[in-house]
Amino acid sequence: MTGLAVIVLAAGQGKRMKTTLPKVLHPVAGVPMLRYVLDVAQRLQPDVIIPVIGHGREQVREFLATQQHLPLTIVEQPEQRGTGDALMVTKSAVDDRIRTILILNGDVPLLTDETIKRLLSIQEHEQPSVTMLTASIPNPKGYGRVVRSEGNRVSKIVEEADASPEERKILEINAGTYVSTPSFLYSALGAIQPKNAQKEFYLTDTIEIAVAKGKGVAALLLDDPAEAHGVNSRADLANVEGVMRWRIRERIMAGGVTLVDPQSTYIDYAVEIGQDTVVYPHTALEGATTVGERCVIRSGVRIADSMLGCAVTILDSSVISDSHIRDEVVVGPFAHLRPGSVLEQKSKVGNFVEMKKTVLGRGSKASHLSYLGDSRIGRDVNIGAGTVTCNYDGTQKHETIIGDGTFVGSNTALVAPVKIGSGALIAAGSTITNDVSPDELGIARSKQVNKPAKGLKRKRKQVSS
Ligand code: UD1
Ligand code: CA
Repeated sequence: MTGLAVIVLAAGQGKRMKTTLPKVLHPVAGVPMLRYVLDVAQRLQPDVIIPVIGHGREQVREFLATQQHLPLTIVEQPEQRGTGDALMVTKSAVDDRIRTILILNGDVPLLTDETIKRLLSIQEHEQPSVTMLTASIPNPKGYGRVVRSEGNRVSKIVEEADASPEERKILEINAGTYVSTPSFLYSALGAIQPKNAQKEFYLTDTIEIAVAKGKGVAALLLDDPAEAHGVNSRADLANVEGVMRWRIRERIMAGGVTLVDPQSTYIDYAVEIGQDTVVYPHTALEGATTVGERCVIRSGVRIADSMLGCAVTILDSSVISDSHIRDEVVVGPFAHLRPGSVLEQKSKVGNFVEMKKTVLGRGSKASHLSYLGDSRIGRDVNIGAGTVTCNYDGTQKHETIIGDGTFVGSNTALVAPVKIGSGALIAAGSTITNDVSPDELGIARSKQVNKPAKGLKRKRKQVSS
């Protein structure tokens, strides 16, 4: 929409959260709540998005730096003197092109595109001084109440702290979302005073000014009041998280994914899952994870910031982070893939195997009880049960390189740096400290000695009797 500026109020401290992290950076379904507000703003294609920052500005700036795709003009509010003051500092960032201003609270992350579009369309057609969003909720505690006069017209907003007992009974609340024009807004803001219980400049006081001196106020009452849910406390955060999680589950299921028990499947905002994938109960898919089509993810699995191809099976109780898993791979049960694990097509990582910064080649298998770190393992390699790469010498990490078609016998220690040539064979129980050339047999263990067991046998009997 041309001529539109979206202002996002995000400078507040969030006292009621009792936190050192700026409130708007608290995650909801894995991303800072501010991200939802910015994304809703972005989908309107405005000329500019103006976040107002203040409390914890360095951290908020750091997050905003990750949102380079947005048309941001960041404004700092030096002192947090209220929402009216926050808006006032945006004046210089709003240029002549701007005809409409949409104001969003950075701590109200559940608003939908449809609602905002309806709000903008009311403003466009009725042209009041302000169009505001309201909701009717059973427990309005903490929100500004919408006071209506005869004819049911909005006359003012009164904050909880300033409300009379009668006004506190009002169930219609201010959602903190407004559409207005620069000319009305900045002149009205010039007239407000911090004469209230909190001694703050209230943006909401502009509503009374619009009624008295302007072209009035239009109000849109939300069909689904959950959209207006603000986050002022940890309990609010948990409620908002719950709503957002359901929205994500519904989006994922609508895309053709089976969630066997949606309630216990935790999927973050940025996660994508391909069609006909089945996700079992008690699973968490986090961060920037993508899962391909026809995968099966069994119970107790946590996957973070990882990419899974198609037809991948992740068996129960596996933990995967920052890893890359290609098509038709099987992982688990009880596997731990740490950052930098790459599992090529049709490879297999089984029970109690831990991997880190390791490439496991196409069709290769590490089926049981292994640690593979800082390694490059070729194709069709068999890593025997209990193989351990000894990658750390106490100060530095070293690499293990294993060529194609190698067979590593069980209970092998590979002391890095070490290279095993392709087609080599490592005898079970070896401690390999020197490179093994292609097609060689490496064996490094003490020779077995068999002796008569006569005396020993009797001793054992005595012990057990
Ligand atoms: C505000 C509204 C209230 C509404 C509610 C909806 C006012 C005076 N009250 O109350 O009517 O029902 O939102 O959620 O506007 N902020 C700044 N600078 C400041 C103060 C706040 O940028 O100096 C930002 C905060 O970061 C937050 C937003 O403005 O994102 C709202 O501030 P908050 O203190 O949470 O206001 P509420 O008490 O929730
Ligand atoms: Ca709030």
